[in-house]
Amino acid sequence: MQLSSVRAVITGGVSGLGLGVARFLVAHGGKVALFDLNDEKGAAAVAELGADNARYFTTNVTDEAGVAANLGAAKAFLGGLNVVMNCAGILGAGRVLGREAAMPLANFQTTVMVNLVGSFNVAKAAAELMQHNEANAAGERGVIINTASVAAYEARSARLPTPPPRAAWSA
Ligand SMILES: NC(=O)c1ccc[n+]([C@@H]2O[C@H](COP(=O)([O-])OP(=O)(O)OC[C@H]3O[C@@H](n4cnc5c(N)ncnc54)[C@H](O)[C@@H]3O)[C@@H](O)[C@H]2O)c1
Repeated sequence: MQLSSVRAVITGGVSGLGLGVARFLVAHGGKVALFDLNDEKGAAAVAELGADNARYFTTNVTDEAGVAANLGAAKAFLGGLNVVMNCAGILGAGRVLGREAAMPLANFQTTVMVNLVGSFNVAKAAAELMQHNEANAAGERGVIINTASVAAYEARSARLPTPPPRAAWSA
């Protein structure tokens, strides 16, 4: 797949990794649709990338119907859909048993809903659209990329100090 032919939906696309991917694709001739919850940053990202190259869609990735509807609208703006990049995520790390109490179930559920179920919602709705694409010479109809973390493999010890604030390690 040539970068100039990329028509991509990027979740979490107005910040950090997602915005970085959007900048890279647009710089190489691609078009992007940014799915996020931050309208202010969405407007700033579109202003930077150019309204012909990028459009922002207020989207909560945990909302199955909203994701499907916005993917359809994004495909219409992009003139096709052949790449999805799942970058939307929240930092939900914490101790199962903290100093004061055990972690509330709601904390865990929210993290799973955004980081896991949200990625699934986007992937399945995108695959439903991409299945109708004509296959290229490599047999590809589209590409779906999910973001993970090294934290999936190396759990943080409860004895380690509290990690620095998110702003210190995200772009
Ligand atoms: N930056 C890193 O070094 C790093 C390392 C490992 C893993 N990650 C993971 O990669 C993902 C992106 O990281 P980042 O640094 O770009 O974070 P970030 O906070 O800069 O960007 C995440 C974006 O997701 C959006 N978002 C949050 N909840 C959403 C929802 N329900 N629906 C739609 N959008 C939502 C936020 O508004 C934000 O714009 C996160 O899941 C993060 O945990 C990042």
